[in-house]
Amino acid sequence: MPHPSSHKLFEGFESLTFDDVLVVPGWSEVLPAEVSTRTTIGGIDLAVPFLSAAMDTVTTADLAIALAREGGIGVLHRNLTVEEQADQVDRVKRSQAGMITAPVSLGPDATLAEAEAIMSRHSISGVPITDDGERLVGILTNRDVRFCTEADEQRLVSEYMTAQNLVTAPVGTSLDEAVEILHRHRIEKLPLVDDEGRLRGLITVKDIVKRIEKPLASLDDQGRLRVGAAIGVNDAAERAEALAAAGVDMLVIDTAHGHTRGVVDTVTLVKEKWPHMRVVAGNVVTADGVEVLARAGADVIKVGVGAGSICTTRVVAGSGMPQLSAIYECAQAGADFGVTIVADGGIVTSGDIVKAFAAGADAVMLGNALAGVDEAPGDLELVDGSMWKTYRGMGSAGAMRGRAIDRYATGQGDNAKHVPEGVEARVRYSGSLAELVGQLLGGLRAGMGYAGAADLNELRTETRLTKVTNAGLRESHPHDVQVTNEF
Ligand code: XMP
Repeated sequence: MPHPSSHKLFEGFESLTFDDVLVVPGWSEVLPAEVSTRTTIGGIDLAVPFLSAAMDTVTTADLAIALAREGGIGVLHRNLTVEEQADQVDRVKRSQAGMITAPVSLGPDATLAEAEAIMSRHSISGVPITDDGERLVGILTNRDVRFCTEADEQRLVSEYMTAQNLVTAPVGTSLDEAVEILHRHRIEKLPLVDDEGRLRGLITVKDIVKRIEKPLASLDDQGRLRVGAAIGVNDAAERAEALAAAGVDMLVIDTAHGHTRGVVDTVTLVKEKWPHMRVVAGNVVTADGVEVLARAGADVIKVGVGAGSICTTRVVAGSGMPQLSAIYECAQAGADFGVTIVADGGIVTSGDIVKAFAAGADAVMLGNALAGVDEAPGDLELVDGSMWKTYRGMGSAGAMRGRAIDRYATGQGDNAKHVPEGVEARVRYSGSLAELVGQLLGGLRAGMGYAGAADLNELRTETRLTKVTNAGLRESHPHDVQVTNEF
């Protein structure tokens, strides 16, 4: 038996978190507007280094679409059935495309009622019409049926579709060429056909406008928005299969404690079956944790235990690590093992984001900071004259009534014990995601300006932090005034 004194109980004893430090301003030749906030995680380039938390009060398709349009990436939560989650991936992927490779189409014998139903289900304004051999025979758009009434519902699409002088382009037409053709013919949809006249794709004005509006959007190689999705340990294979089929860009093995046999085996399983899938695994807070997940094949490691604003893990289990030290230790190990690090939990202000990068993060995951936006699920509540939105931990009693219970349950199946490790709460309503991300990004840029960092790599490698005392912390916030506006 080792003697208790040989147990290094107090090794690496002191750990710090965001409020314990400040970034020391340094020589700067960059203006905030000029710095680059680009990052790469697991081979995915992001203009905005923000991921949304895989939580049921944060990331469903609406928020994932909005965040990817700004240049970040959403991680769809898993507190829903496999089919529902795969459908959310599909919604994100269909929301914007360079070229739609598998356009929704109908046969000429479909009724107008069927056409109407399919257009409204997919929120589209027209459908290509193909015969049995997939040959394009026409296109039906809202314009063709503008004056139809209920009495026409059972009439056939073939009576109304545009079939004469149909404008098409060959497979391989570039977006620039498509813009020219769409403009020349004053049309909104350009079907792409192969040599046999079979429908092979569709380019729409709507998609082109979306691209012009949001030039920083995170796009895959087909011009569709990028999206990640969470999987657990228990249903990993089934969920991964459906999500991969729906076109997900990144699977996030979403657990409260990632330094475990279960998570290592899940990384191995996913990488064996889908070698090209990017895998994010976590959460860990130590170099050892990073090492085992990196060796198992994870591309990105998520860092943070008990730091989240709705977490009670540290109170309930007495376990965790102050987030800044966790990021620092994990980022050092990440560099050794060639994996990138996502700092997850505890970030409330843009100043926290700056500190997370200074400590070594490659990207940050935001729960609290995004839960109050219009695009987050959940209703607005008026409390004491202010607007709020629901935000709850995935280990809260309410969330654990759903499917992601394995994140925190001890034991499995009927033996599972539900000891909540999170609370049900609300956060201030914060308007549109685009506006909020603009504010957070502005803060990150300002921080980079003070640090003299032209890009995130410089912020990670050339910044000095200083520890603050309680008096320093008090000095850091507005003090000795009565604040009359929110900031
Ligand atoms: P923030 O600080 O952005 O943190 O609200 C979001 C992250 O917190 C984690 N999470 C939890 N941790 N109990 C926990 O201990 C919970 O109920 C819980 N729910 C979410 C998760 O990593 C998320 O991204």
